Amino acid sequence: MRHERCRICAQPIRPFMSLGRQPIGNAFLKSPADFAKEYFFELAPAHCAHCATFQIVEIPAPEQMFHDHYAYFATTASTVMTAHFARMAEEATARFLAGPDPFVVEIGSNDGITLRNFAHKGIRHLGVEPSANVAEAARANGVATLTAFFNPETARAIRAQHGPADLFIATNTMHHIEDTNGVAEGVAALLGPEGVMISEDPYLGDMIEIGAYDQIYAEHMYIWSITAMNNAFGRAGLEVFDVARNRHHGGCMRYHLGRKGVHAPTDAYREALAHENALGLHRPETFERFRADCERARARLTELVRDLRAKGKTVAGYGATAKSATILNWCGLSPDDIAYISDTTPAKQHSFAPGSHIPVVPPQRFAQDPPDFAVLFAWNHFAEIEAKEQAWRAKGGQWILPIKGVQVV
Ligand code: SAH
Ligand code: TMP
Ligand code: ZN
Repeated sequence: MRHERCRICAQPIRPFMSLGRQPIGNAFLKSPADFAKEYFFELAPAHCAHCATFQIVEIPAPEQMFHDHYAYFATTASTVMTAHFARMAEEATARFLAGPDPFVVEIGSNDGITLRNFAHKGIRHLGVEPSANVAEAARANGVATLTAFFNPETARAIRAQHGPADLFIATNTMHHIEDTNGVAEGVAALLGPEGVMISEDPYLGDMIEIGAYDQIYAEHMYIWSITAMNNAFGRAGLEVFDVARNRHHGGCMRYHLGRKGVHAPTDAYREALAHENALGLHRPETFERFRADCERARARLTELVRDLRAKGKTVAGYGATAKSATILNWCGLSPDDIAYISDTTPAKQHSFAPGSHIPVVPPQRFAQDPPDFAVLFAWNHFAEIEAKEQAWRAKGGQWILPIKGVQVV
């Protein structure tokens, strides 16, 4: 549905740009027979001047995006992220689960990438995951999982059955749920008095700085910041008391929240908030500049790829990320420009990328039919992928980094 008002604070909002007609980023098509009935919407981001929440104004219905054939399997997507969440589980256990018989709830628990670390230690846990196929994969990994959308009703049902939660986790998930106020209400209902919520996802400050407009797509309907998190969760009596930044997914912020006044704010929180205030995220010029960066990136990427094709070079894509849909559809790239996209996820292979209809193939194709140039749509996993593709690099293969500046490396 298209909104003229902020989903958090209900003040009027206006998009500062349009990324055009877009499909759902994870809606890979199994056969050309599906092309005619593909769903499109206008991808238009806005920044609320009142509560500072960055959001897209038109959003497909959740059941259209999260279902029994969801394409993102977190554990198979990246070994680096698998290790990252194992470390997060270990740190959180030491810091927040010291009491007797603790209980951990995670939303967007996907295939159990994080919760399995608690499950394997015998810690009471429950995942809440509406996409039935990935929830089933989690159960197969020994992770207790409820196939459901998290909302105030689910929260109250979980509390009634299991008691209060000591730790509530949402990684790369708060930007997937339209009803943020409903999540905040649910967290407030579920957490014990000293319970902690950990949320982590791509940080607005980093997205603006690196011009990563491909972070914006149907399933990524919000891009969070400290100020916006405080305003949104503050409505339910919660506040951020600690944060930690990391370089994953192009720059993420981890937020620690608790009930207001319970946890003392840390120095890291104060410093990151001061830094955020200095970024000018409250100024319309910041988003105008971001728009200009995105438009330059689009012009340069399309010119570069078409120029290489005109010279007889072959170009493929690497990583059929949901992000790639935003780039491919906004830039109008087709299978004539990019012959195929290689991806390790079985659920994405032998399908067609949403909107652009570029074939998605297993990595064997990349090995057997190596391109001269590969657009690295999974640019956020650069180190992991660069290490894996040394043979292709040694033979002269070159990466095209598709966002800000559009570099050939
Ligand atoms: N936590 C993992 C997966 C993130 S993908 C990681 O960090 O890699 C986001 C997940 O949120 C998807 O699996 C999606 O199905 C799930 N999701 C979407 N809406 C949800 C809701 N209302 N409640 C719980 N999970 C939801
Ligand atoms: P993400 O950026 O949303 O995590 O998605 C990464 C995608 O890239 C996922 O579909 C898996 C794919 N991928 C590869 O194909 N090869 C790789 O080496 C890596 C790390 C990811
Ligand atoms: Zn608002």
